[in-house]
Amino acid sequence: MNIWKTKTPAQINEAAEHTELKKNLRAVDLAALGIGSVVGTGIFVATGQGAQLAGPGVLLSFIIAAVTCGFCALTYSELACMFPVAGSTYSYSYVAFGEVIAWIIGWDLMLEYLVAASAVASGWSTTFIGLIQGLGVKLPKALITPPITTVNGRIVMSGGIVDVPAIVITLLITWVLYIGIRESAKINNIIVLVKIAVIILFVVLGIGHVSLANLRPMMPFGWKGVMAGAAIIFFAYIGFDAVSTAAEETKNPKRDVPLGLMICLGVVIVLYISVAFVLTGIVPYKLIDVGNALPAALGRIGIQWGGALVATGAIIGMISTLLVTLYGQIRIFMVMARDGLLPPAFAKVHPKHRTPHLCTWITGVATALIAGLFPLPMIIDLCNIGTLFAFVLVSIGVILLRKTRPEVERKFKTPGVPFTPLITVGFCFYLMYSLPKVTWIRFGIWLLAGLAIYFMYGAKHSKLQKVA
Ligand code: ALA
Repeated sequence: MNIWKTKTPAQINEAAEHTELKKNLRAVDLAALGIGSVVGTGIFVATGQGAQLAGPGVLLSFIIAAVTCGFCALTYSELACMFPVAGSTYSYSYVAFGEVIAWIIGWDLMLEYLVAASAVASGWSTTFIGLIQGLGVKLPKALITPPITTVNGRIVMSGGIVDVPAIVITLLITWVLYIGIRESAKINNIIVLVKIAVIILFVVLGIGHVSLANLRPMMPFGWKGVMAGAAIIFFAYIGFDAVSTAAEETKNPKRDVPLGLMICLGVVIVLYISVAFVLTGIVPYKLIDVGNALPAALGRIGIQWGGALVATGAIIGMISTLLVTLYGQIRIFMVMARDGLLPPAFAKVHPKHRTPHLCTWITGVATALIAGLFPLPMIIDLCNIGTLFAFVLVSIGVILLRKTRPEVERKFKTPGVPFTPLITVGFCFYLMYSLPKVTWIRFGIWLLAGLAIYFMYGAKHSKLQKVA
């Protein structure tokens, strides 16, 4: 057994050529898939959490997180085009670093996709509850609150039992994915338009009410606060790489993937920075509603109807984030199972729907349980550290593969290698460093558990190990 055994680029791309999945996505679908995945709980809910840490400086947090993501997208695109296959960073790592690191990354990606999906469902739930209660409907606290919460980083009982809305929405979306990608992409395109519209609405309604007094002092908690905010806000940008997890189902991946990534990130950055400016400009940061930031802000300046409309749009919008994030996770599991690192059930494709149906339901149920039982800030921190770690590996992979696999065609080349990937690594580590210590400990335990599973299952069943 050689746990460092690498796949060849041909082995990776071969799987894509023989895929049973439909190849029906075009450039415009990919861009929509990206925006659909990115714009969600992060901007509508986590902005409030970021503002508690950074004050009005959350505007800078958004910029720092955006710059980090811009660099990540530059490195990501090179690998996404070299290997236009489902499986994201996991697949690239198999070529760049060998099996055991690929497994660890695949395991780590569960934080970026599965755990992120839970965070989105959780944020969806708080926004939904805010809207419903705003209409005067009372909901029992025990059934809309996870059993634990965090106070100053410590875990305490919340008095709740389970977040039922978070569970229900996750299972509904799982069903949509089970039915198949074409329907999912169509629904996604409509939802993307809705969420862009409500974000623009928020900015337009709020901009006239911005008071410069709210923006002073800009950094009440100093640079450390801005960075702590950026480490949270990074969540709002997660998902642009979902574009590449769908590469296997696109018509012309080599052209469409980098284009889709860049357009998606450009649109998102403009929307977010506008929102951060207007939000902290209309509400003193201490008074931002952490669970329902944007709608509550409009309510505060007397535009209740606007708040309700934004909340409704956000609720619809987060559905597409959940959909695309879950989709990404399911495809990654499927690829890992095709390689023998997960049980074959994860790769089984439904004869009629042509979707990996068992994998879809297993993923959906796991996501629903996390969303229903754990508090949002804890989920977001874990998701961010896992995602940043994956991007670190992607960046190192770009440098490594230029040396070990120079012959593979790169339709998109990251400019400035090795400096651009190294700067990306620097940004990612700085954000990781700005997360709480307890998140690092949880992350370490998670990776160790993954390693144990690899040696108990993956190493023994790996198909690559059986190839001479
Ligand atoms: N970026 C995604 C969101 O904000 C995960 O919901």
